[in-house]
This record gives sequence, structure tokens and C-alpha cells, in this order.
Amino acid sequence: MKKFYVTTPIYYINDIPHIGHAYTTIMADVIKRYKKLTGHEVFFLTGTDEHGQKIEESALKQGITPKELADKVVVRFKELWKTLNIDYDKFIRTTDAYHVEGVKKIFQKVMAKGDIYAGEYEGHYCVSCESFVTEMAEDSGEKNKICPDCGKITRTVTEKCYFFRLSAYQDKLLKFYAENPGFIIPRSRMNEVVSFVKMGLRDLSVTRSTVKWGVSVPGDETQTVYVWFDALTNYITAVDYNTEDATFKKLWPADLHIMAKDILKFHAVYWPAFLMAADLPVPKQELIHGWWLKDEKKMSKSTGNVLDPHILLKHFNSDAIKYFMMREAPIGADGNFSHQGFITRVNTDLSNDWGNLVSRTGGMVEKYFKNEFKNDATDGGDALYGEKETAVKTAYFQLEKEALELFDGYQFNRGLERIFEYINDLNKYIVESEPWTLAKSPEKRAVLAGVLKTLVRAILSVNVLLSPVIPETAEKIRGIFNSNDAGLGWKETGERFGINKGEPLFPRVDIDEFFADEPAGKNKKEKKVTEQAQEKQVEPKMETPQPQSPEGTDGLIGFEDFQKVKMVVAMVVDAEKHPNADKLLKLTVDTGTDTRTLVAGVAKFYAPEDLKGKKIIIVKNLKPAKLRGILSEGMILAASDADGRPYIPIIPEETPVGAILK
Ligand code: ME8
Ligand code: MG
Repeated sequence: MKKFYVTTPIYYINDIPHIGHAYTTIMADVIKRYKKLTGHEVFFLTGTDEHGQKIEESALKQGITPKELADKVVVRFKELWKTLNIDYDKFIRTTDAYHVEGVKKIFQKVMAKGDIYAGEYEGHYCVSCESFVTEMAEDSGEKNKICPDCGKITRTVTEKCYFFRLSAYQDKLLKFYAENPGFIIPRSRMNEVVSFVKMGLRDLSVTRSTVKWGVSVPGDETQTVYVWFDALTNYITAVDYNTEDATFKKLWPADLHIMAKDILKFHAVYWPAFLMAADLPVPKQELIHGWWLKDEKKMSKSTGNVLDPHILLKHFNSDAIKYFMMREAPIGADGNFSHQGFITRVNTDLSNDWGNLVSRTGGMVEKYFKNEFKNDATDGGDALYGEKETAVKTAYFQLEKEALELFDGYQFNRGLERIFEYINDLNKYIVESEPWTLAKSPEKRAVLAGVLKTLVRAILSVNVLLSPVIPETAEKIRGIFNSNDAGLGWKETGERFGINKGEPLFPRVDIDEFFADEPAGKNKKEKKVTEQAQEKQVEPKMETPQPQSPEGTDGLIGFEDFQKVKMVVAMVVDAEKHPNADKLLKLTVDTGTDTRTLVAGVAKFYAPEDLKGKKIIIVKNLKPAKLRGILSEGMILAASDADGRPYIPIIPEETPVGAILK
């Protein structure tokens, strides 16, 4: 079996875990489950980064020791991973004795080689990022007083320290990137790394004399090892670098480090250089995902807008959270977290589309076959499979091929989108086959059995594709249809499916209850709108609804009537072709209070790129409507000529998102 070693960053313990940490860890978990499904033996590492000035100062403020702080916060991380059903294999803490020993080992090795040397350092240090500003070969002067990464004021530091000869690795790194263009995904991040290294690398201070809370430098007790040198080393110490035994030889190099862009430089530049200096292989690949924003702002402890996953867990199970995060954010792009978007996604995809398909099918097998296909005269003998049934099966194989390709490239959002197209087709297949009509004619019994068995098989097959993302639900569904088969492929086997009725898989979330947890009842209005749409599942025509002219006023309306239409400036954050309709575009817009999906009939005249990043006008309080399977929550404003060609007004860039038209 092929091994696969996947890691998350080790998180700082001065912060309690929030949805951003959960995102990376969920992604690693999904990747682990996916790799297992495709025949890999997986080792998944996560943990905590416990040394350094930031932690030291944080503990001091709380009047406890750094270790006490770490012990306290580690529990919070472990508890959250348990609640989210994260299947990690090892949790490393940088205060673990074996790790400390391993840091000393690699430090000594690189020093013996001559790539770590003693010197004196004067520079600007950013405590928040635990990073020297001048090490980035920036021009000197005022600029260096501000951290280019986080914008905070840096401290001027002069101290004796040891340097890592990073400058000697510039060419080696560039050669390595050129030979391994897939080292960093997405590609845009790889390009950033290459330009950064091309700008020139200076030697890097890798010890501190003023920080006590750290691994002491072998042979020089006055110094501690720089926290990033210490932290990055976790990826090897966790797999027995100390002994370099069989485990180490088998697992290292790691197959995938996952992180957000904030720590790209450390992983893509410093880490490979440290490893090259220690004559160790470098990791095979690094996956850089986007940043989760809350209400359009970067989520961070200092901004005070971190989202505690426990609030979500009160209303949603861990599968719903995993599904939302993996479905909503394309790798590389920032995802905006809004409660509204979350509820819509979960209620629409999981409760309506998937949950209903399973319960409808289960319900019909119960009603028409008393929960069991007997394969005898009572259920029509052998089931009959017609053209449509063959098509469902063939379509599954096509889906499996495409979904696996997308998942292999870590394009979970697209893979899931594709899976849900199939699920929607299955829902259509029920409507078209009319099992309720077949059930009325005893001579159609075998046809009915064919339809329902096909549905059960399709559900069990697609269930496996969903299982890396929603593992608990997948297990429940196997339980419902009495299946032990958790592997890929069409579930041809088992003519007998006993059905066990279960709880609803994704109980619809009570929106009022959910929003009661939100401070000051935010987004109340939008929530109502979406709620109505989900209840009704309307399929309206594409034409703009014409307001009825009030009688006797020659079509004039009062100002109050105009005011009923809430129009705002929205920013198109994403645009794509509607998967099921040539004329439609699916837009993701930021309305200033939430991010939502709009479907617009402009695809013949506008390419997705024409609209991406543009500010447009939308009607925010139009009743949502499902257009070819996608819920449109509002309408974009466009002029239309006699031929029906749309002209979308583009709003000046400086207009704030959310500005109201009145
Ligand atoms: O940087 N959106 O730890 P850290 C997406 N200890 N991901 C987010 C996020 C957000 N809003 N906020 C955090 C450190 N993350 C070092 C790492 S590794 C050798 C040392 C995730 O606690 C994301 O993976 O600041 C990001 O890279 C990481 O948490 C930073 O975690
Ligand atoms: Mg951070």
C-alpha cells in the first residue's frame, strides 16, 4: 500500500481554536479519508506550537507560566477535533521531550555542516508573526518598522545570535522549484514564492537570547532556538527523526503540508532550505488554501471577530460543517463565512437534495416492498432494468471518474458540486419514473423493483464518494440500507436490501433559533427571505416580474412602493456558467451583509470573467427562486433592448459594497 503523510500547521496556543484552524484540520481529515478510500495508508499529524515570545508574553499577561497556558489551550484544541470527528494519527506538542531533542539534533547537524554560524543581529522583529523584517531583504529605513505581513509595529532588537546561511540556498531553491513546479498548489502561490526568492535571500537569525521560553541551543545556554526553526521541525520529529528508524524512513518526506497563505514563506522557503542543509528530503507538496473571512474581514483574535465553531456545533452536526467548508471555498480563494450562506448551503444541499433522496427512497422501499426486496413472486421476481436504469449506472461511472480527478487535485468544491448534480439527477429520475404510478399496477411490479433497486444502488455508490467529507452520515446511510460496502464502485451486489428507518439525516435547522445566538439579531431580514424560498422551492420563469400598476394612477407608483424594493451595490466575488443551463450564469455576490448566490440570464452576452470583481446593483429582497436547480437569492439589475440583450450597469469601483440605492 502506498503511504501518504499529511500535516496541518501546529497551531499557536495563545489563541483558542476558531473556524480558520478548523478549516485546515477538516481539510486534512477529508484528504486522509479520501486517500484511504483510494488505497493509501495514511498518517495524519496535527499539534500545537508552544514556544516563543508570543506565548511567553501571553502567559505573562494571564499570570500563569507558558506551560500552564499551553496545557490549558491544548485541551480546547483536542476537544474540538474530537467533536468534529477529526481522525488524526498523532498530536504533537513542541514542548514534548522527544521534539525538543529532535530540534537539537537537526540544529547541531546543520551547525556541524557550517550552515549555522555565530554572529550579531540588529533588526526589527515582529512579535505577532514571530518574524524578523530585515530577513526579507527589504530595503532598510522606516518601512522596516512596520511588519509587511501584519502591519503591526516591529521592535528593534540587537543581540548576539546564530545565523542560518539562507543566502547559500537561493540557487538551490530556485532549481528545486523549477524542477518541481507542482511543489506548491495553487500555481499562483508557487509564482509568489519564486519571485520572493529571486529578490534575494539574506541569512536568517535562528536563535534568540532574549527569549527564555524555547529549546536551548546545544552548547550555548544563553540562546534559544528561533520558534519557527523549532516549529517546522515538528514535521520530522513526529515521525521519529530522533532515531531515523524505519518509521522515519517510511513516512518522510511528507506527502502534503496544508496551511493558509499567512505561513507560506516559512514552509516554502525556510523549511526546504533547513532540510537541504540537514541532508534530508524536502516535502513533496504544499497545499495553500484561502483565508476564511467573517463578514468580509480577516478573522483574528485581535480584530475580535473570530467565530467559535462551538456555536455552529450547537445547531449543526460536524458533517454539515465539513460539507459547508469543503463545498463553499475553492482552494486558494478566500471564503467568506456568513451564517446565512451556511444555513442555505446545508438546508438546500444536505437536507433537501441528499437527505430527501435517501428518505424518499427508503420510504418507498418500505411502503411498496415492506423494507425488503425478496426476489420472488411477491416483488415481481427478477427486477427489470430498462434504459433509464442503465443510464443511471453509466452516469455514476462517469461521475466517479470526474469526482476522483477533482478530489485528486484537491478541488473539493468542484467535486462536490459535480456529485450534487448527480444527486439532483437522481431526484429527477424519481419524478420521471413515477414509482407511485407503477405501484398501482401489479404487472409493473418488476419494473418498480428495478427503479427502487437502482435508486438504492445509486445512493449507496454516491454515498461512498461523499464519505470523506461527511463520514458520519455515510455510515448512517450504509446502516439504513444494510450495506457494509464502504469501497468505491457501483454497488451491484446485494439484491436484498433491508431498510432500517433512521432519524432524518440532516434535520432542517431552525433559523430563528440559530440567529438567536448571533449578537444583535444580525441579518434577520435576509434569513426570512431564504427561509421562504426553501419552503416553497419555486421554479419561476426567467423574465423579470412586472410590478402590477396600481389602479387609476396611469402606472405611477408612490414613493412607499419604490421603497419596498431594496437595491444595493454588490460585488461579484465569483461567477461561473450554470451547470444545467446555457443562458444562465451563477454569480456569488457580496451584498455587504452576506454572501449569496444569484442566477442571471445573461450568459449569452457576458462571460463569467466579465463580471468577476465588478460592482453591480442587485435587488436584495426579491423572493428567492430556484433556477434550474440553483437557488437565486435576489436579482441583478440589467437594462434590456428590444432583442432582449442585457446591459448590466457597472458601478464605480469606489462605491462601498452594500451601499443602498434610493
Ligand atoms: O502560524 N482562515 O499558527 P497559527 C483560514 N504556529 N485558515 C486559518 C485562519 C483563517 N481565518 N486562521 C488560521 C502558526 N488559519 C504557526 C504554524 S507550523 C510549523 C507553525 C489556519 O495558530 C491556517 O492553516 O497562527 C493558518 O496557516 C494557520 O491556521 C495558522 O495558525
Ligand atoms: Mg497566525
